[in-house]
Amino acid sequence: MPAHRLTKLWKLPLWLVELLAWGKSFKNNPVIGSYWLNRCGLHVLRVVIAHGLFRFRLLLLAALVPAADRRAFLRDGYVLKENFLPPEQFQRLRDELLHYEGEVRETVEGTTLTQRTFMTHEVRNGTPQMAAFANDPRLDHLVRYCSSKNRPPLFYVENLCNHANVTPRPDPQRDMHADTFHPCVKGWLYLDPVDDRNGPFVYVPGSQRLGWARLKWEYRQSLEACKKGEARAPGRYWDGSFRVSAQELTEMGFAPRVFRVPANTLLVANVYGFHRRGEANAASHRMTIWMQARDNPFNPIFTPIPRAAGRAFEWVWERVLRRLDGPRELAGEQRRFTGRFSR
Ligand SMILES: [Fe+2]
Repeated sequence: MPAHRLTKLWKLPLWLVELLAWGKSFKNNPVIGSYWLNRCGLHVLRVVIAHGLFRFRLLLLAALVPAADRRAFLRDGYVLKENFLPPEQFQRLRDELLHYEGEVRETVEGTTLTQRTFMTHEVRNGTPQMAAFANDPRLDHLVRYCSSKNRPPLFYVENLCNHANVTPRPDPQRDMHADTFHPCVKGWLYLDPVDDRNGPFVYVPGSQRLGWARLKWEYRQSLEACKKGEARAPGRYWDGSFRVSAQELTEMGFAPRVFRVPANTLLVANVYGFHRRGEANAASHRMTIWMQARDNPFNPIFTPIPRAAGRAFEWVWERVLRRLDGPRELAGEQRRFTGRFSR
């Protein structure tokens, strides 16, 4: 073991905790990124166990959603519902969020300016339409089921400004990728209609299922991701969100679907399935209520107290974001302001 690695050995307990939880970085965690352990199948073992436990929890939570939604989620990896809210309610919600004034975090990906507000329950107390949406039992049950954790998601309002007048930065969202090694869900309620002008979401239906071809691909990727220093191909990603090429998708028998959808469409997707943000071919906006529910994939049980667990996750995540603000702003990766979303 090289000397610089030995001096970091005090971090071993942390690396092991990450290994047994949702840690995914091949670069920052030498256990997850160990070539020999992955040669022996460590990554593939994590993938298989996480998927087995996910399916086990889904089975126990089946009563939360209608059978048609369960079938769609298991078959395609997503549930899509157009006209999710009654039209008048949707209009009120859209107006409320278009005119919302609060703390906005802003980052640049490619030439896209991404503005996000973390909508904690305290923030939602001041936005009654948003609160009504978050408490909608149809949404609540669907996300609690799809996450397999029985926990409400974290809510954000996300406003994308495509082709904004910014200095471009690398854009990881445009490459077809899986978010991580285990099933987890993200959800979007589209407040704007989505088409090729403002960059539709692209998802590969069925790619969240664990077949032999996917497992072989995961194994190959895990060995590739262990490469160090010069051996690392430039432009690849080492954070455990594996990128997939169009050719690899075809070889695995997959074809992407582009989600050009009207406003008021709800999409809940398992982002272990391959996906990306589609190109926007005009200066435009795309505003969504964005939800995410990620949890320890190796915890076999789900929470029996969804509301309290949701609040606890919100509390922790709020503090994580606050802690990240300083370094991100110092590095010029993020800006924060209080005001309205750019439209
Ligand atoms: Fe992603």
